[in-house]
Amino acid sequence: MPKRLVVLVSGRGSNLQAILSACASGQIPATEVVAVISNRPQAPALALAAAAGIPVRCVDHRRFGDRSSFDAALRAQIDDFAPDHIALAGFMRRLTPEFAQHYGGRLVNIHPSLLPAFPGLHTHAQALAEGVKLHGATVHFVTADLDAGPIIVQGAVPVLAQDDVDSLAARVLAMEHRIYPQAIAWLVSGRLRMEQDKVTIDGEKAGEFSPCIWPGTED
Ligand code: GRF
Repeated sequence: MPKRLVVLVSGRGSNLQAILSACASGQIPATEVVAVISNRPQAPALALAAAAGIPVRCVDHRRFGDRSSFDAALRAQIDDFAPDHIALAGFMRRLTPEFAQHYGGRLVNIHPSLLPAFPGLHTHAQALAEGVKLHGATVHFVTADLDAGPIIVQGAVPVLAQDDVDSLAARVLAMEHRIYPQAIAWLVSGRLRMEQDKVTIDGEKAGEFSPCIWPGTED
């Protein structure tokens, strides 16, 4: 039976596209994206999914008075599809601790910084303002604390002297498209687990698992 993956989105959908391509090529083995769910009706990612023939749903956060009723509605939609795993791919809503707990160990996120540096929004502007020389992206399990769950993989990129937010964001995004499919491939194959807020890799030689990716390295 293929693994069932639900992807949550809010915007453009380039990480969704990277995941779909990786499922199609087999880089993410034996996995089907069974639904794409957005909190924004106009998210281009929804159109992208629909064009690929994937069931789409929208749970518009503006229709809910508080975070927990939105999360409950979102959970109901997700659980309709009985997913094995859930990937946040540019999903821009904070989730309640209860939500994270419900999917503990099955819910992952990609964040555009080398966590724990620059959690939250505007990560590229923060990186430029701080003058860091390395920036990047992190895939992590989602726990109750925002952008603070156990780290699965990070991809680093250089910050160049002439960078602005757009050029840096583009370099990080290309790295996101490499590390997110890789992390999901590890996850669906059962190699990767979250146990007591730590990431473990079951039954694999350490050398085969490379959780740190630099611009030129092989994945
Ligand atoms: C990505 O940079 C992701 O890390 C962040 O939002 C952006 C979403 O881009 N959370 P896309 O919708 O996947 O193109």
